[in-house]
Amino acid sequence: MAFDSRRGFLKRASAAGLAISANHLLAPFVRAQTGGLASSIFRFDLDSRRVLPALDRNVFGSFLEHLGRAIYEGIYDPNSKFADANGFRKDVLEEIQKLQVPIVRYPGGNFVSGYHWLDGVGPKQDRPKVLDKAWNSLETNQFGTNEFLLWCRTVGTQPLLGLNLGTGTPESAAALVEYCNVDKGTKWSDLRRKHGIADPHKVTHWCLGNEMDGPWQIGHMSAVEYGEKAADAARQMRYVDPSLKLIACGSSGPTMPTYLEWDREVLEQCYDYVDAISLHRYFDNTSETGGDTAKFLALNLSMERQIAEVAAVCDYVQGRKRSPKKLWLSFDEWNVWYRAHSGPAMDGNRKEAPHLLEEVYNLEDALLVGGLINSLLRNSNRVRVGCLAQLVNVIAPIMTNSNGFYRQTIYYPYNWALQFARGAALDVLVEPGPSYEVPGYGQVPYLDVAGTINPDDGTVSLFVLNRDLSKAHQLELNWEAKAGSRLLTSYVLTGSDLKAVNGFDAPQRVAPQAAEKPVTSSGVTKIELPPRSYSLYQWGI
Ligand code: AHR
Repeated sequence: MAFDSRRGFLKRASAAGLAISANHLLAPFVRAQTGGLASSIFRFDLDSRRVLPALDRNVFGSFLEHLGRAIYEGIYDPNSKFADANGFRKDVLEEIQKLQVPIVRYPGGNFVSGYHWLDGVGPKQDRPKVLDKAWNSLETNQFGTNEFLLWCRTVGTQPLLGLNLGTGTPESAAALVEYCNVDKGTKWSDLRRKHGIADPHKVTHWCLGNEMDGPWQIGHMSAVEYGEKAADAARQMRYVDPSLKLIACGSSGPTMPTYLEWDREVLEQCYDYVDAISLHRYFDNTSETGGDTAKFLALNLSMERQIAEVAAVCDYVQGRKRSPKKLWLSFDEWNVWYRAHSGPAMDGNRKEAPHLLEEVYNLEDALLVGGLINSLLRNSNRVRVGCLAQLVNVIAPIMTNSNGFYRQTIYYPYNWALQFARGAALDVLVEPGPSYEVPGYGQVPYLDVAGTINPDDGTVSLFVLNRDLSKAHQLELNWEAKAGSRLLTSYVLTGSDLKAVNGFDAPQRVAPQAAEKPVTSSGVTKIELPPRSYSLYQWGI
């Protein structure tokens, strides 16, 4: 498949490795190490000078692509015993509602670059069944833009709509904006009304294409060609609706040979017309690490490096253009993905809703996802949208069959971020603590700490990854501004088997447990973090 050409790039470029020394955003302080238990002091100050700007909850969004069983059998299945009147799976819908996912990217991904949105609107019996060339699958078009936007409203999430800038034109992109957002009296808004939807959908966030730097992408083109096309599409779309938030398509990841140069050339063409640029990244515990879990658990630091590098390119172009506008970043695809990444797992064999990319996640994957969440929190001043890729059945936290669903291991850190990361990220200062050497990465601290403070309900949440595979580490938390604190919640995700997975047969094999309650005395809370764990603590202050 076309996608395999990307794997060639990935292998060659990852051989070059990424050099990163330590978590430069964490300013670690280390204290003494005592026997088998290392102790470090963690201090944070509730003073607003030590808080990042208010957290945009969209940083913890997700993604649903017309791919495999994400849409069909995942969120939409009119023949299911769980279907509601719209054909939506109620059990999955309620689960996503409970998660409170703030924004969902749709309809792709690679799929979008050959997608004709007109095939997916209007009477269902008239919609064509087409060959989806991105995934060699049959697309029935029974679920399209209006169904997705109705699903979003029912769930209580915002859409992040992807546009076809592969085979599609800027004119068809602007037509979709008109179809979605103009009230009435124009060709495309009246078509929407004819399709039974009187009120405009008012979609604000749009992706200008997907991974156009990749030779696997339908309509792949050079950076200058894409930058010009994105600028044209953005201009036409803004004529229709000036309030849009537009995301240009950045590099597919640091392993691409054109990494950063693509971003620069694209932005040279379209900087003035867009609000953000996209970043994508999938992590694996083979080619990047040789299967070394200690190294794998440090990979969130290379996500931070990627954020810093792409932000630097944006700022460089801003300077060159003497523009007052600073772009934000949309990390709109990120996850662990490497097992279901070749052969049959990638080829739909011209079937409807084939089983594709059904990655089974283990404990170590969930721990890294926790670290990646910490990295997004620490960079939430620049990353305003993020999408865990994806949400249901395809490299996903939620897996369905005809009888129900189960939660994969990675569900839990994502759920904690959604429930507990509220308000603003703390600019935490951790004293340099015990660390370990990761070739190519330098000294990596065992503990990775991120936190939030929510002035609305007076809570502080702390998210801690212990990368040490064999030892517990102690964290001393000094409540500098307020001595008093009331522990509200404490959970830990850990286990003896890093390769343990959940499944329909054992849905709770890897699940959070109540963490030991830390003791606070004289304004100091002592927390013991078990080896190979990701923990959440929330206090009322
Ligand atoms: O999320 C799966 C695929 O990964 C997406 O379709 C594509 O954008 C990326 O390469």
